[in-house]
Amino acid sequence: MVSNKKLLSWVNEIAALCIPEHIEWCDGSQAEYDRLIKLMVDEGLATPLNPQKRPNSYLFRSDPSDVARIENRTYIASTTKEEAGPTNNWIDPTELKRTMKNLYSGCMRGRTMYVIPFSMGPIGSPIAKIGIQITDSPYVVTNMHIMTRVGTKVLETLETLGSEGEFIPCLHSVGKPLAAGEKDNGRWPCAPIEQKYISHFPQDRAIWSYGSGYGGNALLGKKCLALRIASVMAKEEGWLAEHMLILKITSPQGKNKYIAGAFPSACGKTNLAMLIPTIPGWKVETIGDDIAWMKFGKDGRLYAINPEAGFFGVAPGTSEDSNKQAMRTIEKNTIFTNTALTSDNDIWWEGIGYKAPGDGTLTDWTGKKWSAESSNGVPAAHPNARFTAPAKQCPAIASEWENPEGVPISAFLFGGRRPSTVPLVHEAFDWNHGVFLGSIVGSEVTAAALDVKAGTIRRDPFAMLPFCGYHMGDYFKHWLTIGKTQNSKLPKIFYVNWFRKTAEGKWAWPGYGENCRVLKWIFERCDGEGDAIKTAIGMLPTLNAIDRQNLEGVTEAVMQELLTVDHNLWLKEVDSIKEHFAKFGEKLPGELNEELQKLQVRLNNEELASQQATTTVQSKKANNSASTLFI
Ligand code: GTP
Ligand code: SPV
Ligand code: MN
Repeated sequence: MVSNKKLLSWVNEIAALCIPEHIEWCDGSQAEYDRLIKLMVDEGLATPLNPQKRPNSYLFRSDPSDVARIENRTYIASTTKEEAGPTNNWIDPTELKRTMKNLYSGCMRGRTMYVIPFSMGPIGSPIAKIGIQITDSPYVVTNMHIMTRVGTKVLETLETLGSEGEFIPCLHSVGKPLAAGEKDNGRWPCAPIEQKYISHFPQDRAIWSYGSGYGGNALLGKKCLALRIASVMAKEEGWLAEHMLILKITSPQGKNKYIAGAFPSACGKTNLAMLIPTIPGWKVETIGDDIAWMKFGKDGRLYAINPEAGFFGVAPGTSEDSNKQAMRTIEKNTIFTNTALTSDNDIWWEGIGYKAPGDGTLTDWTGKKWSAESSNGVPAAHPNARFTAPAKQCPAIASEWENPEGVPISAFLFGGRRPSTVPLVHEAFDWNHGVFLGSIVGSEVTAAALDVKAGTIRRDPFAMLPFCGYHMGDYFKHWLTIGKTQNSKLPKIFYVNWFRKTAEGKWAWPGYGENCRVLKWIFERCDGEGDAIKTAIGMLPTLNAIDRQNLEGVTEAVMQELLTVDHNLWLKEVDSIKEHFAKFGEKLPGELNEELQKLQVRLNNEELASQQATTTVQSKKANNSASTLFI
């Protein structure tokens, strides 16, 4: 039995506050999963999918107000506003606790309170952390079963740490108490927007979430623990907690490297992590698709683990063509949320790669009948519809994905959706320049967050804007400090952009499996190979450095376009970075300002040089790269 005094008194305290009808400690077993799923099917909250097509899989439809993370209801309640910094919402922790205690008071009436012991990272790994989530949502329990390591073994590990063993308390309620005899009646329970709070107390290492049942708002091991709280711990303890995929790439010679990449939400991490190379002999395997925790190993290299056990992936756009490995992963034992439903009880979404069967009629994510003809372009699946699937079901999962020591990282990638300005790939000159590249990540906003306008471009430094648990200026400094510790063995840093568009508004680069061509160049650069040319913004591949064999559509002219560094656009970019940096005031590390100034000088010098350039230089330029030569 549990002897951890802090845990027992916390559970008692929350039960007294929330007044649930029952309390259940979760053991993480299949029987528990099946029982909770049945409960939700009987309640009309889950639709069992066709067992011939999608065994042991279920569809949930959320409330239309509860379809994504809600950034303006997410709080970093540090002791002072200054500690949370300019990019986080802040409320005084005492005040926020008072407000939320009022909401929590009696909020689990008529419901069961589940106590979920979970581990982020392989149980017992030196990098892993234990969390305990209290929730009144069986949907959350079943998703946590897939996304984390849940159960008795975690409690046992906590016990071995003694009666004072550390865990991160994660409190969650959907915020919809039931009156006597009241049922959910098939309606996804949640609270109105203005009552939703996703709160973090970094000083207490605690998470309080209220009113939402969706994704990162409710599966508290993911963004709340593994990024917002872990980033604070990582800064204090000298490691990194990042919004990054981790992949293993093997060359035809059998040499392998591990690469970690930070792209903002819905910008291609899952797709890149599961990529099937189109160039013969290369192989990519998956370690993780969303979060990386990294610590220095004894050999001075950075070792990464994936703290999660499943994928909570974007469904729309996932197809046999774009991500075959994901399609295999979600064939069974998968929870789907807010996808459309076919007439033969399978899932469907925009970009799944085939038409809906039968007469094409579907049930859309809101539960209404839907057909392409009568839809007026309104999608059948919500753009942020997701699948929750066990990582071990991915055919591309690397055998070492649960290695408790992690895997050594050779390269970091940063990227986002940039229709112009940013080339297909460029490499940082050195660590500080790489940190600068991370700090200026920008992207077109996607549907992964509810309250930011899709289609506009915003700065999302290190893809951590919604996930950094402290002042972003201090976070930049932490990255610079990491660079000072073990300089010679640090990963190289690259910036990629799969999302450049042509004048006609089409993707200039085919993306997906073809991204392996860029990974190949990165692999070569890590070994001191691969042709590159120095430009004002960083090292760019020469025109033929990226393997284009059997690549249709990407002619030399297209490649030239993809590698163009337009100085006028980049000088505008410099102005926009200045505005971005100004937000951080005195907390902006001097090194980043220096990098910005150096960039501006290089752009101005080259501008001058190219105006004065002789014909020989210009023809050389045309032969080598579309970017201006740095002379
Ligand atoms: P989160 O789970 O929100 O953190 O997102 P993610 O970064 O894992 O994004 P994901 O891989 O799920 O991609 C989201 C969307 O980007 C999907 O609609 C994909 O089809 C699209 N996408 C992914 N890779 C590429 C690419 O190389 N090119 C293009 N054009 N689109 C891509
Ligand atoms: C993201 O938005 O970056 C996600 C999905 O990975 S969620 O878990 O909902 O945050
Ligand atoms: Mn994510």
